[in-house]
Amino acid sequence: MIDFSDPEFVSNPYPALKLLREENEPVWHEGLNMFLAARYEHANQVLRTKSLGRIFTAREPEELWEDFNWLHADSILDSEPPKHTRLRSLVGKAFSRSRIENLRPEIERIANRLLDEAQVKLSDSGSFDLIADYAEPLPVKVIANLLGFPDEDEHLLRPWSQSIVKMYEVDPSEQAKTEAREAASEFAEYVRGLMLERKVNPGADLISELVVVEEAGEKLNARELIATCILLLNAGHEASVNGFGNGMVAAFENNQMGLLRTKPRAIAETAVEEFLRFDAPLQLFERTATAPTVVGGVQIGQGQKIAALLGSANRDEEVFSSPEMMDLTRDPNNQIGFGAGIHFCLGAPLARLEMQVSLPLLMERFPGLELAKTPSRRPTFVLRGYQEILVS
Ligand code: HEM
Repeated sequence: MIDFSDPEFVSNPYPALKLLREENEPVWHEGLNMFLAARYEHANQVLRTKSLGRIFTAREPEELWEDFNWLHADSILDSEPPKHTRLRSLVGKAFSRSRIENLRPEIERIANRLLDEAQVKLSDSGSFDLIADYAEPLPVKVIANLLGFPDEDEHLLRPWSQSIVKMYEVDPSEQAKTEAREAASEFAEYVRGLMLERKVNPGADLISELVVVEEAGEKLNARELIATCILLLNAGHEASVNGFGNGMVAAFENNQMGLLRTKPRAIAETAVEEFLRFDAPLQLFERTATAPTVVGGVQIGQGQKIAALLGSANRDEEVFSSPEMMDLTRDPNNQIGFGAGIHFCLGAPLARLEMQVSLPLLMERFPGLELAKTPSRRPTFVLRGYQEILVS
């Protein structure tokens, strides 16, 4: 049975996931108390089946977890139709491919400014950190601008988000729980303040747009507004940071830098899909059966849970040729890193654009980019990424 917190597993989960796929059907995991769908076909089915819902279970004791609980229960990701349909349609337009494409010049400007700063660091100290100096600030800045989150408080976003998402790991520590509760309360209070402020001083941002809907009183209440904004702020950068970092390290380790150096623009689109396929930044999503459901021949009883393993699905030999090989020109590439079904990533056009813009700009600025030190991984499986990637 897989031990999801074993450092050896976390450092390279793919051999163990391959063994799991060889079982040919979803397997019960005693420790997690759920089935695991490791094959592409089964993971995809888990995400697309109506009777397998994202059902949020409130944490207890409820008086301690109150803010954390409603921040999830009232968000798009942790709700099901009809509430999910209502919330998603309110923000859907803002993330459509065409609206997102308009952000290209701004993303280029932010990336170039970060690269200028990285260049200074490089000449001052001989290296810079691909995570802290590039992959992280870029999506944080973009999503903060889109929502109208104040520049001077942007530094608060990443720590709040990090504390909250630690609860998505398989066995969070007591300290992680305390930090998640505090972060949820502080973040909710902060966004409530922003909401009240935008009622008086509206701007050209998404929070102001949502405030108008909330005031109309039918489609959105204050808690839903706050929960949705916090979800967008968190989801809007966590996976993008790690998707970029995981992909870059894998490219260094799998002989792909030649291609990235010589034709970064020409291969940007396929490279980004392969980054997300080869080492998915989000590995596991749970669903709960609202009625008895069969997946891959296995009966999931009402109330039982099953998880879709996205990184494993992306290495399924039935769907991808030579799945253990990284190929930045891979086409077709039906990677499932953005999920599937009704919860399919709302921010996929934004994440793709950010990476397709920032990757070639990085390579054009630093064609001789190399790892300066063995990169250090975060000790987590569900959100898979690096702590630091020093490059020179
Ligand atoms: C490489 C980057 C990203 C990856 C790999 C990713 C992946 C995912 C996945 C797998 C889901 C579905 C979860 C499930 O089915 O339970 C999801 C949902 C979501 N993502 Fe992303 N995401 C990324 C970037 C973004 C960005 C930039 C945003 C910005 C707004 C975003 C916003 C959302 C939202 C709002 C949902 C919930 C959708 C719903 O429940 O209907 N994501 N994402």
